[in-house]
Amino acid sequence: MEPVAMDGTRKPGAGKKVCVIGASGKLGRYLVQHALDRGYEVVGVCREQSVHKLADLAGEITVVPGATDDRAVVARAVNGCDAVLTVLVPWGVEHYASGTAQAVLDHARPGARLVFSCGWHITRDGKDVYTRRFKVYAAVFGRLAKLARVVDVDDQVEACRRIFASDTSWTVVRGSDLEEGGSQGLPVWSRHVGDPILASNLTRRVDYARFMVEAVENDALVHEAPAIVGRLTPSALAHAAGPA
Ligand SMILES: NC(=O)c1ccc[n+]([C@@H]2O[C@H](COP(=O)([O-])OP(=O)(O)OC[C@H]3O[C@@H](n4cnc5c(N)ncnc54)[C@H](OP(=O)(O)O)[C@@H]3O)[C@@H](O)[C@H]2O)c1
Repeated sequence: MEPVAMDGTRKPGAGKKVCVIGASGKLGRYLVQHALDRGYEVVGVCREQSVHKLADLAGEITVVPGATDDRAVVARAVNGCDAVLTVLVPWGVEHYASGTAQAVLDHARPGARLVFSCGWHITRDGKDVYTRRFKVYAAVFGRLAKLARVVDVDDQVEACRRIFASDTSWTVVRGSDLEEGGSQGLPVWSRHVGDPILASNLTRRVDYARFMVEAVENDALVHEAPAIVGRLTPSALAHAAGPA
């Protein structure tokens, strides 16, 4: 990793190591790339069957194969890491998300920056205001997905409850609807869904990842659950004087 940027300044990640839990997915790949660009040494955890998705990064990152809720796998991967970026996904009905979160909370070194992903449906203080459409979609999707035993959204809620209750240096980044496409810059954020700046409900996945990686060096985001939206969306442009 080059410790110095093109302009001669030291990269923020120089000499530091981050772990990306769920490195082979769409968000995970962007997290890895942003972390490498910032000069971090990167360790990635992904399922055995997905290791091939990271083949192009052989030599650039260390891959630890395994389920992200496997405590031994997570313990090995986060060893010596200054930060852990976790893609929190509620697959199946075996407490995958809460298992992943708990493993990270238990095994990351004390003081490590922990940054987790989730959706707007997670609320930290109950003060988020959701549209009727959002609530209906979340309820219907949540119930059907659980019935089919594919996804357990309640377990992602439990995962975040544990994170919020922990005394670690956590940030939970709550993503809006996502789309692919080139970067529009760092997303803007607000503490509560329902705030006008978030109304456009759309973020580029590449920028979601950037927000998570930049959160590692941003102490103002410790113990925050920012809800994010793309900085070039109409609502962000109309309310640009917000907390971002
Ligand atoms: N999609 C959205 O619109 C949206 C909106 C708001 C927030 N978010 C949040 O963004 C994050 C990333 O979501 P994403 O939708 O963009 O997906 P993603 O980045 O593609 O991530 C999906 C992850 O789940 C893993 N995975 C897939 N099937 C699995 C299974 N059966 N068992 C265990 N792991 C499995 C994938 O690993 P493999 O590479 O091994 O398959 C990958 O790491 C999540 O925290 C989500 O809550 C998403």
